[in-house]
Amino acid sequence: MPGRIIAIDGPAASGKSSLGVALARRLGYAYVDSGALYRAVTLLALRRGVDVQDAAALASLAAQTRLVVTRPTVFDGRQYTVLLDGEDVTWDLRSPEVDANVSAVSAHPGVRRAVNEHLRRSIVHEGTVMVGRDIGTVVLPDADLKIYLTAGPEARAERRAAELSARGKAADYDTILRALRRRDAYDGGRATDPMRPAADAMHLATDEMDLEQEVELVLRHLAATERPTGGAGG
Ligand code: DC
Repeated sequence: MPGRIIAIDGPAASGKSSLGVALARRLGYAYVDSGALYRAVTLLALRRGVDVQDAAALASLAAQTRLVVTRPTVFDGRQYTVLLDGEDVTWDLRSPEVDANVSAVSAHPGVRRAVNEHLRRSIVHEGTVMVGRDIGTVVLPDADLKIYLTAGPEARAERRAAELSARGKAADYDTILRALRRRDAYDGGRATDPMRPAADAMHLATDEMDLEQEVELVLRHLAATERPTGGAGG
Protein backbone atom coordinates (compact mmCIF):
# COMPACT_ATOMS: atom_id res chain seq x y z
CA MET A 1 0.00 0.00 0.00
CA PRO A 2 1.42 3.43 -0.88
CA GLY A 3 2.27 5.81 1.96
CA ARG A 4 0.14 8.81 2.61
CA ILE A 5 0.56 12.44 1.65
CA ILE A 6 0.75 14.91 4.52
CA ALA A 7 0.60 18.68 3.93
CA ILE A 8 1.86 21.04 6.65
CA ASP A 9 1.32 24.79 6.30
CA GLY A 10 1.86 27.77 8.55
CA PRO A 11 3.78 31.03 8.94
CA ALA A 12 7.56 31.46 9.14
CA ALA A 13 9.16 29.85 12.21
CA SER A 14 5.92 28.17 13.33
CA GLY A 15 7.77 24.85 13.58
CA LYS A 16 6.74 23.36 10.21
CA SER A 17 10.12 21.94 9.39
CA SER A 18 10.71 20.45 12.86
CA LEU A 19 7.33 18.71 12.77
CA GLY A 20 7.70 17.72 9.11
CA VAL A 21 11.16 16.22 9.58
CA ALA A 22 10.10 14.35 12.74
CA LEU A 23 7.00 12.90 11.08
CA ALA A 24 8.88 11.91 7.93
CA ARG A 25 11.48 10.14 10.06
CA ARG A 26 8.92 8.29 12.19
CA LEU A 27 6.88 7.21 9.15
CA GLY A 28 9.80 6.53 6.76
CA TYR A 29 8.41 9.15 4.36
CA ALA A 30 10.16 11.67 2.11
CA TYR A 31 10.40 15.24 3.45
CA VAL A 32 9.91 18.12 1.00
CA ASP A 33 10.36 21.76 2.09
CA SER A 34 8.67 23.93 -0.55
CA GLY A 35 10.20 27.11 0.89
CA ALA A 36 13.65 25.79 -0.09
CA LEU A 37 12.66 25.91 -3.76
CA TYR A 38 11.45 29.52 -3.51
CA ARG A 39 14.68 30.32 -1.71
CA ALA A 40 16.77 28.64 -4.43
CA VAL A 41 15.06 30.66 -7.17
CA THR A 42 15.66 33.81 -5.07
CA LEU A 43 19.35 32.99 -4.60
CA LEU A 44 19.78 32.45 -8.32
CA ALA A 45 18.03 35.75 -9.13
CA LEU A 46 20.29 37.62 -6.69
CA ARG A 47 23.41 36.02 -8.13
CA ARG A 48 22.40 36.82 -11.71
CA GLY A 49 21.32 40.36 -10.84
CA VAL A 50 17.71 39.71 -11.90
CA ASP A 51 15.31 42.29 -10.41
CA VAL A 52 13.00 40.62 -7.88
CA GLN A 53 10.09 42.56 -9.44
CA ASP A 54 10.77 41.22 -12.96
CA ALA A 55 8.00 38.62 -13.18
CA ALA A 56 8.85 37.30 -16.65
CA ALA A 57 12.58 36.89 -16.01
CA LEU A 58 11.97 35.17 -12.67
CA ALA A 59 9.38 32.78 -14.09
CA SER A 60 11.78 31.67 -16.80
CA LEU A 61 14.61 31.29 -14.27
CA ALA A 62 12.33 29.11 -12.11
CA ALA A 63 11.25 27.00 -15.07
CA GLN A 64 14.70 26.51 -16.61
CA THR A 65 16.93 25.93 -13.61
CA ARG A 66 17.93 22.42 -12.63
CA LEU A 67 16.79 22.26 -9.01
CA VAL A 68 17.28 19.05 -7.07
CA VAL A 69 16.31 18.43 -3.45
CA THR A 70 17.77 15.22 -2.02
CA ARG A 71 18.35 13.56 1.30
CA PRO A 72 21.25 15.19 3.22
CA THR A 73 24.59 14.61 1.47
CA VAL A 74 26.59 16.06 4.40
CA PHE A 75 25.86 15.51 8.08
CA ASP A 76 26.16 19.10 9.32
CA GLY A 77 22.69 19.56 10.78
CA ARG A 78 20.90 20.03 7.46
CA GLN A 79 17.56 18.33 6.78
CA TYR A 80 18.10 17.98 3.01
CA THR A 81 20.53 19.05 0.33
CA VAL A 82 19.58 21.49 -2.41
CA LEU A 83 21.54 21.39 -5.67
CA LEU A 84 21.24 24.38 -7.98
CA ASP A 85 22.57 23.36 -11.39
CA GLY A 86 24.70 20.80 -9.54
CA GLU A 87 26.08 23.16 -6.86
CA ASP A 88 25.29 22.51 -3.19
CA VAL A 89 23.59 25.75 -2.05
CA THR A 90 21.81 24.36 1.04
CA TRP A 91 23.21 26.85 3.57
CA ASP A 92 23.25 29.79 1.14
CA LEU A 93 19.45 29.57 1.11
CA ARG A 94 19.38 30.85 4.72
CA SER A 95 21.26 34.12 4.13
CA PRO A 96 19.69 37.45 5.20
CA GLU A 97 19.67 38.55 1.53
CA VAL A 98 17.55 35.54 0.56
CA ASP A 99 15.32 36.08 3.62
CA ALA A 100 14.74 39.70 2.61
CA ASN A 101 13.83 38.92 -1.02
CA VAL A 102 12.10 35.54 -1.04
CA SER A 103 8.60 36.90 -0.33
CA ALA A 104 8.80 39.18 -3.38
CA VAL A 105 10.08 36.39 -5.64
CA SER A 106 7.47 33.90 -4.42
CA ALA A 107 4.61 36.36 -5.04
CA HIS A 108 4.92 36.02 -8.85
CA PRO A 109 2.32 33.63 -10.32
CA GLY A 110 4.76 32.35 -12.97
CA VAL A 111 7.33 31.45 -10.31
CA ARG A 112 4.64 29.67 -8.28
CA ARG A 113 3.50 27.65 -11.30
CA ALA A 114 7.05 26.43 -11.99
CA VAL A 115 7.75 25.60 -8.34
CA ASN A 116 4.39 23.82 -7.91
CA GLU A 117 5.14 21.52 -10.83
CA HIS A 118 8.46 20.63 -9.30
CA LEU A 119 6.79 19.99 -5.93
CA ARG A 120 4.12 17.69 -7.38
CA ARG A 121 6.84 15.68 -9.13
CA SER A 122 8.57 15.13 -5.78
CA ILE A 123 5.75 12.95 -4.36
CA VAL A 124 7.04 9.42 -3.77
CA HIS A 125 5.31 6.07 -3.37
CA GLU A 126 6.60 5.52 0.18
CA GLY A 127 4.73 8.58 1.43
CA THR A 128 5.54 12.28 1.52
CA VAL A 129 5.46 15.07 4.08
CA MET A 130 5.46 18.46 2.34
CA VAL A 131 5.71 21.76 4.22
CA GLY A 132 4.96 25.31 3.08
CA ARG A 133 2.27 28.00 2.92
CA ASP A 134 -0.19 26.70 0.32
CA ILE A 135 0.42 22.95 0.22
CA GLY A 136 -3.01 21.92 1.56
CA THR A 137 -4.86 24.60 -0.40
CA VAL A 138 -3.11 24.71 -3.79
CA VAL A 139 -0.22 22.30 -4.31
CA LEU A 140 -1.77 19.10 -2.90
CA PRO A 141 -5.47 19.78 -2.27
CA ASP A 142 -6.10 16.00 -2.16
CA ALA A 143 -3.52 15.36 0.59
CA ASP A 144 -4.55 12.62 3.03
CA LEU A 145 -3.88 14.87 6.01
CA LYS A 146 -3.55 18.65 6.18
CA ILE A 147 -2.06 20.35 9.20
CA TYR A 148 -2.01 24.10 9.82
CA LEU A 149 0.39 25.38 12.47
CA THR A 150 -0.18 28.56 14.40
CA ALA A 151 1.97 30.40 16.95
CA GLY A 152 2.15 34.05 17.97
CA PRO A 153 4.85 36.21 16.36
CA GLU A 154 6.70 36.57 19.68
CA ALA A 155 6.97 32.79 20.18
CA ARG A 156 8.14 32.39 16.58
CA ALA A 157 10.74 35.15 16.91
CA GLU A 158 12.10 33.46 20.04
CA ARG A 159 12.30 30.15 18.20
CA ARG A 160 14.11 31.72 15.23
CA ALA A 161 16.54 33.58 17.52
CA ALA A 162 17.36 30.35 19.36
CA GLU A 163 17.93 28.50 16.06
CA LEU A 164 20.28 31.20 14.81
CA SER A 165 22.33 31.41 17.99
CA ALA A 166 22.60 27.61 18.06
CA ARG A 167 24.29 27.92 14.65
CA GLY A 168 26.59 30.64 16.02
CA LYS A 169 24.81 33.42 14.10
CA ALA A 170 23.92 36.90 15.39
CA ALA A 171 20.28 36.91 16.51
CA ASP A 172 18.64 40.13 17.65
CA TYR A 173 15.12 39.33 18.87
CA ASP A 174 13.56 42.69 17.93
CA THR A 175 15.01 42.63 14.40
CA ILE A 176 13.78 39.07 13.91
CA LEU A 177 10.30 39.93 15.23
CA ARG A 178 10.01 42.91 12.85
CA ALA A 179 11.14 40.81 9.88
CA LEU A 180 8.66 38.03 10.75
CA ARG A 181 5.74 40.48 10.97
CA ARG A 182 6.74 41.94 7.62
CA ARG A 183 6.85 38.50 5.98
CA ASP A 184 3.53 37.45 7.56
CA ALA A 185 1.86 40.50 6.05
CA TYR A 186 3.47 39.86 2.66
CA ASP A 187 2.82 36.10 2.49
CA GLY A 188 -0.77 36.43 3.77
CA GLY A 189 -1.63 39.45 1.66
CA ARG A 190 -0.32 38.52 -1.81
CA ALA A 191 -2.85 38.10 -4.62
CA THR A 192 -1.74 34.63 -5.75
CA ASP A 193 -2.24 31.75 -3.33
CA PRO A 194 -1.97 33.71 -0.06
CA MET A 195 -1.16 31.76 3.05
CA ARG A 196 -4.37 30.47 4.66
CA PRO A 197 -5.54 27.20 6.24
CA ALA A 198 -7.41 24.64 4.13
CA ALA A 199 -11.04 24.21 5.24
CA ASP A 200 -10.31 20.61 6.27
CA ALA A 201 -6.97 21.28 8.00
CA MET A 202 -6.17 20.10 11.51
CA HIS A 203 -5.00 23.16 13.51
CA LEU A 204 -2.08 22.87 15.93
CA ALA A 205 -0.99 25.73 18.21
CA THR A 206 2.73 25.05 18.44
CA ASP A 207 3.38 27.58 21.22
CA GLU A 208 1.28 25.40 23.53
CA MET A 209 2.89 22.03 22.76
CA ASP A 210 6.37 20.63 22.44
CA LEU A 211 7.51 18.78 19.35
CA GLU A 212 7.06 15.31 20.81
CA GLN A 213 3.46 16.11 21.79
CA GLU A 214 2.74 17.38 18.28
CA VAL A 215 4.22 14.26 16.68
CA GLU A 216 2.24 11.94 18.97
CA LEU A 217 -0.99 13.84 18.28
CA VAL A 218 -0.54 13.57 14.52
CA LEU A 219 0.50 9.90 14.65
CA ARG A 220 -2.58 9.09 16.76
CA HIS A 221 -4.77 10.93 14.29
CA LEU A 222 -3.20 9.00 11.38
CA ALA A 223 -3.70 5.67 13.15
CA ALA A 224 -7.35 6.52 13.86
CA THR A 225 -8.01 7.37 10.22
CA GLU A 226 -5.97 4.52 8.72
CA ARG A 227 -7.37 3.23 5.47
CA PRO A 228 -8.48 -0.40 5.63
CA THR A 229 -5.87 -2.81 4.25
CA GLY A 230 -6.22 -6.27 2.70
CA GLY A 231 -9.65 -7.72 1.93
CA ALA A 232 -10.89 -8.85 -1.49
CA GLY A 233 -9.73 -6.48 -4.18
CA GLY A 234 -8.52 -4.02 -1.46
O1 DC B 1 9.26 28.51 4.82
P1 DC B 1 10.33 29.49 4.35
O2 DC B 1 10.60 30.60 5.31
O3 DC B 1 11.59 28.81 3.90
O4 DC B 1 9.68 30.14 3.05
C1 DC B 1 10.35 31.14 2.34
C2 DC B 1 9.37 32.03 1.59
O5 DC B 1 8.81 31.30 0.50
C3 DC B 1 8.21 32.57 2.41
O6 DC B 1 8.43 33.90 2.80
C4 DC B 1 7.04 32.49 1.50
C5 DC B 1 7.44 31.59 0.37
N1 DC B 1 6.71 30.33 0.31
C6 DC B 1 5.52 30.34 -0.37
O7 DC B 1 5.09 31.40 -0.83
N2 DC B 1 4.83 29.19 -0.55
C7 DC B 1 5.28 28.04 -0.02
N3 DC B 1 4.58 26.91 -0.23
C8 DC B 1 6.49 28.02 0.71
C9 DC B 1 7.18 29.19 0.87
